[in-house]
Amino acid sequence: MSDTIRQMAELQTPEELNNLYRTLTNQLRQQLQQSENDKHDLEIQMLDRVGTLESRNLELREQLRQSEADKRYIETQKIRYEREVRKLKSESELLRTPPLIIGTIIDVLDSTRVVVRSSAGPRFLVRSSPSINPEDLKAGARCTLNQQSLAIVELLPDSFDAQIYGMELVDSPLETYADIGGLEKQINEIREAVELPLKRPDLFTRIGVEPPKGVLLHGPPGTGKTLLAKAVAHETNAHFMRVVGSELVQKYIGEGARLVRELFEIAKKKSPTIIFIDEIDAVGASRTEANTSGDREVQRTLMQLLAGMDGFENRGDVKIIGATNRIDILDRALLRPGRFDRIIEIPLPEEGGRLSILKVHTRLLTMDDNVDLDEIARLTDGKNGADLHAICMEAGMFAIRKDREAITQDDFLLAIEKVGLDFHRGFPDIGGAMFA
Ligand SMILES: Nc1ncnc2c1ncn2[C@@H]1O[C@H](COP(=O)(O)OP(=O)(O)O)[C@@H](O)[C@H]1O
Ligand SMILES: [Mg+2]
Repeated sequence: MSDTIRQMAELQTPEELNNLYRTLTNQLRQQLQQSENDKHDLEIQMLDRVGTLESRNLELREQLRQSEADKRYIETQKIRYEREVRKLKSESELLRTPPLIIGTIIDVLDSTRVVVRSSAGPRFLVRSSPSINPEDLKAGARCTLNQQSLAIVELLPDSFDAQIYGMELVDSPLETYADIGGLEKQINEIREAVELPLKRPDLFTRIGVEPPKGVLLHGPPGTGKTLLAKAVAHETNAHFMRVVGSELVQKYIGEGARLVRELFEIAKKKSPTIIFIDEIDAVGASRTEANTSGDREVQRTLMQLLAGMDGFENRGDVKIIGATNRIDILDRALLRPGRFDRIIEIPLPEEGGRLSILKVHTRLLTMDDNVDLDEIARLTDGKNGADLHAICMEAGMFAIRKDREAITQDDFLLAIEKVGLDFHRGFPDIGGAMFA
């Protein structure tokens, strides 16, 4: 501007001034126009910028929402994992806790002092945990003991041995009376002694007689004693508990007797029940001067068995069936009336019996018309039911080997010879066989 003023000072003529004025106004107008344009441009630019910023803002907001959702998800995940960790920790702690000793309460002195016997044998005077109700502390109850102080930690609910549950038959056996050849008299007798008192106790009360408490089946091996007991189990609706005498002989002192006691207790609880003691001679052998502690343990078991049998009412719902091959060595105490009052002999089958047994075992076999079972029954004198079963099976094997359609009489004859050779099983008077 100072330049222009200086120019103005230098200029003299009005013409020149006029020119100058015009150029100046032109210049000013141009400048104005220019700044007007600039302002417009700037406005557009700014609008543009605001637009981009707004969209960026939206974008960021969306991102924020997203990451907040992520955060929430991760937080719940974290809680879940923490819970998992806690669970695993407590589990691993549980695994690391020392085992508890199992014991039996012998005597309760007062609410805090109790005499227990640990499973290893010795007795201890211990305290009981305050969390146990003192009224629940009873002699005979099973409990767990702390390893160091042997204090009673908790009481175990039911002291029945798992082994006892194993002895209880849940499914009844498949054998029926129809599977037994011969032995009609014995079947009748056992039905009368076992089934009838369970099904029709009124008959006995009316007449006033006491039904037998238990029956003992005895006879040579392989004559169908176990089979008969199974058939009884099949035919009655009673609970059936099967135990083999040798299972009652236990390793530790008093264990066998406890098993017997629990067996009888469960039988009573679940009555009507039939207890079947197979091979009873394992515990019922007559008491002699016992020399070893093992003998004495067997005798204790026997005494518990006797006490158990005395503990039932005759008309009660528990029946006992015993089976043995060795009645000669059984203790007299078992055989006296009031225990096994019915003693049923299952002899070696006679010819008629053998024929019936053969008929039972050949029911399902395909046989030629020439097979004469009467003759086979005649030829198998001295054989027991198990032998006859084996003969039928062997005859079948011969037929298979020769690729025949049906079993012939010759197959049976060969089978008789083979079974006779395998073992000298068929002693007519078998006194001393322990095992069947
Ligand atoms: N009277 C019988 N009728 C049919 N099969 C019999 C007879 N006696 C024995 N058996 C056969 O012999 C097998 C063994 O009999 P089992 O009852 O176990 O003999 P044990 O008298 O020694 O207990 C039975 O599974 C059965 O196949
Ligand atoms: Mg048997």
